[in-house]
Amino acid sequence: MRHLLTPLDLSVDELEKLMDDAAKIKADPEKYAHVCDGKIIATLFYEPSTRTRLSFEAAMLRLGGKTMGFATADSSSAAKGESVADTIRIISCFADIAAMRHPKEGSTTVAASHALIPVINAGDGGHQHPTQTLTDLMTIRSLKGTFNGMTIGLCGDLKFGRTVHSLIRALLRYKDVRFILISPDELKLPDYMIDEIKKTGAEYEEITKLEDAMPRLDILYMTRVQRERFFNEEDYVRLKDFYILDMPKMELAKDDMIVLHPLPRVNEIAVEVDSDPRARYFEQVQYGMYIRMALICMLLEIEI
Ligand code: NCD
Repeated sequence: MRHLLTPLDLSVDELEKLMDDAAKIKADPEKYAHVCDGKIIATLFYEPSTRTRLSFEAAMLRLGGKTMGFATADSSSAAKGESVADTIRIISCFADIAAMRHPKEGSTTVAASHALIPVINAGDGGHQHPTQTLTDLMTIRSLKGTFNGMTIGLCGDLKFGRTVHSLIRALLRYKDVRFILISPDELKLPDYMIDEIKKTGAEYEEITKLEDAMPRLDILYMTRVQRERFFNEEDYVRLKDFYILDMPKMELAKDDMIVLHPLPRVNEIAVEVDSDPRARYFEQVQYGMYIRMALICMLLEIEI
């Protein structure tokens, strides 16, 4: 039995196969509409979510399966003090696979170690968010054709942004990917992630001004300042509008650059940018559903 807790749980070949499968499903969804008949996914969300939870549910429903779960910690027995380890043991009796999001780093790993069914990490605190990374990779591969040689700017909350941590981890396995890490001092990429970059010898730089990076980027990955992980509101208020991607900044970028964002957006991308053909974040959401369909099949050992 396999779980997906970090993007590195999949080899590069498995990742490629997953993206190929997702593309196959996207091209002919009808063909896969019953491959998960009789299967159930449990979505266990101890933290708010719109896209990720509904994307898992839509993925299972479109494969013919069913869904159950909870969307807030206070509607589960966690409110009575039940541990994640106990909850997942119980869920293992009801469902075939589970997607879990939890505010505590490492909690999905604990869940996986007690589970009798595959567990997917749908976000553990400020740590990892591998299925967002699958979504991001599928979007990049579909729109740019390759990862090799790309210059990617990651902008915003690089400290708490788990999507950033997972995406960097995954991209480090490709050739000549350059990272431009754009953040205020207080929200720089954590040291353990910098160490991971250094270990591979990949090129990276840390800068503060988004304008300085714009002309060089193939991909701009914008992120929201993660309010819920701040210790005090004052710091959040001071930093929340540090970056606002607007049309004057977009004019500095290449014609074929793409802008991605895991969403939800707050203020960091002006609404006017949405109509620029380089803004691809809403399309990104669609890729997310197809790659989750492929992932569910893979973990349930359903050949497609
Ligand atoms: C992200 C998350 O939860 O980490 N959202 C998502 O799953 N698409 C990003 C965020 O909340 O800022």
